Amino acid sequence: MGRRASDVLVVGGGVVGLTAAWRALVAGARVTVLDPAPGDGATRAAAGMLAPVGEAGFGQEPLARLGVASLALWPRFAAELERAASLPPGAVGLETTGTLVLAYDADDVAALRRLLDLHRAWGLPSHEIGTDAARRLEPAVGPRVTGAARAPGDHQVDPRAVHRALAVVVGSSPRATLVPRAATALTWARGAVTGARDDAGAEHRAGLVVLAAGHASGALHPDAPTRPVPGTALRLETAADLLAGHVVRGHVQGRPVYVVPRRPGADGRREVVVGATSDEREDSRTRSGDVFALLRDARALLPALDEATFVEATTRPRPGSPDGAPVLGEAAEGLLLATGHHRNGVLLTPLTAAVVDDALGATSPSASLSASPSASPCAGPATDALVAAALDAAARHARPGRFTARRTAHPEGAPA
Ligand code: GLY
Repeated sequence: MGRRASDVLVVGGGVVGLTAAWRALVAGARVTVLDPAPGDGATRAAAGMLAPVGEAGFGQEPLARLGVASLALWPRFAAELERAASLPPGAVGLETTGTLVLAYDADDVAALRRLLDLHRAWGLPSHEIGTDAARRLEPAVGPRVTGAARAPGDHQVDPRAVHRALAVVVGSSPRATLVPRAATALTWARGAVTGARDDAGAEHRAGLVVLAAGHASGALHPDAPTRPVPGTALRLETAADLLAGHVVRGHVQGRPVYVVPRRPGADGRREVVVGATSDEREDSRTRSGDVFALLRDARALLPALDEATFVEATTRPRPGSPDGAPVLGEAAEGLLLATGHHRNGVLLTPLTAAVVDDALGATSPSASLSASPSASPCAGPATDALVAAALDAAARHARPGRFTARRTAHPEGAPA
């Protein structure tokens, strides 16, 4: 059985895991990332909506607070990631054009108004605009759409571009190692996590383990009770002028659907993501009925999508948590949880980075591991308050241990 040591072991190589790895590298650590297929989990299907308002539902105010706090960190996070990966500004596809919210029939309009009332009560920015104004913003809005609103602060980023940038940064560091294996268990000594064992039986020791294994995290620690919530998203390709470029979210006879047009490429074509189903099932194969329903509802809002080329249908399990909010923070000595992001992994990535930065500064497993404030993706006089707000939101709403009656030092039966 092999045995290797690093300062930080990150279990999971999606956007959240690679972000944790990047932050650990910035802090000066040697990092190992354990993932058999980095970026091929929820990251692969994600549309990249940065939509704390659009995703805000009844009973989910904590999630909205986390999302708002993280969204505020996105511009700085994107700029710093692009610099670190030697990419031009804009390479990760952050777009700040806001979101158009559409309602298809009278019941959908009534539901939309209830949501707008909720946003008002929570102080979230959204307002009804009517369909004429909606068509001025997006001429492709279909003739049978009967209501519209704007969520001007809900934006988008390209999750695959973000992951590629993170892979460049992590992959080019001499202090980072990627092990293409799945973790099967955490390893423990005297109540502290000391590393993880992989599916080939090798043990990877580290001063700090960051558990960012998406829906699979739940099998590794009881404070991260994640479950798979598969979602299907479609990728289409269109001529750039088919759509004006606003993110569109809507309801069609009670069913939610969203359409995310990316910035056009040099060839005058653009990717359009249509999503997403959400199911409580173990199976992550793509069902034909889901592809049909997504296209049917998307074209009810934007009939011009009939002209788009079909590129792919992707189904991946989101990491659902019992209350829909992530699990972020220290769960045992040597263990940081960064999982359970459910529908909001991309949105909540900068907030997760802030939690990782904070933990590395506070629980540094080696002398070299002290996070320099100037190295933070969120640092700087103008953003210190935003980082503090994000950490405060995480401490209030994403605390590990909130699902377990009594704090578990280590799972029963784990080697102690
Ligand atoms: N963030 C939207 C979704 O998971 O479908």
